[in-house]
Amino acid sequence: MSYTIPEQGDVDPVPDLLDRTKVPVHIACVMDGNGRWASARGLPRTEGHAAGEEALLDVVDGALEIGVRWLTLYAFSTENWRRPADEVRYLMGFNESLLMRRRDELNEKGVQIRFAGRRDWRVPRRVLKRMDESIELTKHNRRMTMTMAFNYGGRAEIVDAVRALVEEGIAPGKVDEKAIRRHLYFPDMPDPDLVIRTSGETRISNFLLWEIAYSELVFPEVLWPDMRRGHLYEAVVDFQQRIRRFGAVNP
Ligand code: IPE
Ligand code: IPE
Ligand code: MG
Repeated sequence: MSYTIPEQGDVDPVPDLLDRTKVPVHIACVMDGNGRWASARGLPRTEGHAAGEEALLDVVDGALEIGVRWLTLYAFSTENWRRPADEVRYLMGFNESLLMRRRDELNEKGVQIRFAGRRDWRVPRRVLKRMDESIELTKHNRRMTMTMAFNYGGRAEIVDAVRALVEEGIAPGKVDEKAIRRHLYFPDMPDPDLVIRTSGETRISNFLLWEIAYSELVFPEVLWPDMRRGHLYEAVVDFQQRIRRFGAVNP
């Protein structure tokens, strides 16, 4: 299947091949390739992050269009603090301003906004404030839950779950998968059916380690700022052709 970027203002149609009765319940995206997108244009890396906003909103609209109930987006990892201070500062401010710009529109669309990750001292207070306001504003929305993985690490999430269990004084014999799941950041969140990582990188980079045990993975070449709902639909069509066995044999 080939894909061409639509003219400005055009919206990618849902392909006939996409079976609307078998849409993944939860899609998770690693929004990667912003820096390369910018470098290819001779722009600073931060311009790539800025250009990723349009991609994000178009993907949200596409997900709503086909009835995805859970969308999780990797926005900042626990390892991204290793980036140059200027870029980290930009990303903090960008995530804050994106929420200010977009939360009303997301709210009107029936999107519930959540954040997965550590609220540690490195996240500026005003960013946490915008996050809390966005959660509060959208908490009654039920059409789709959009979780921003922000200062998120899959290993940190498991460590936090284990800490919580130890704090509860759990007996060793009671530690099982259910007990750990109960202490993940969002125990009500179903595991992703489909994980999409853009930019052609074929790694997980500490995203949702516990939750992706049986997710289907797709790695489109498109750089995140060029990602549109058409790429999302293409990934869903790919997903629909897979046979998920969960360790069993074909029925
Ligand atoms: C993803 O794009 C955005 C974040 C990690 C915040 P990158 O900034 O990683 O872009 P590349 O991978 O360098 O192209
Ligand atoms: C993963 O991308 C994190 C986000 C997209 C937020 P990175 O660009 O940070 O991952 P690596 O460093 O290439 O593994
Ligand atoms: Mg990257």
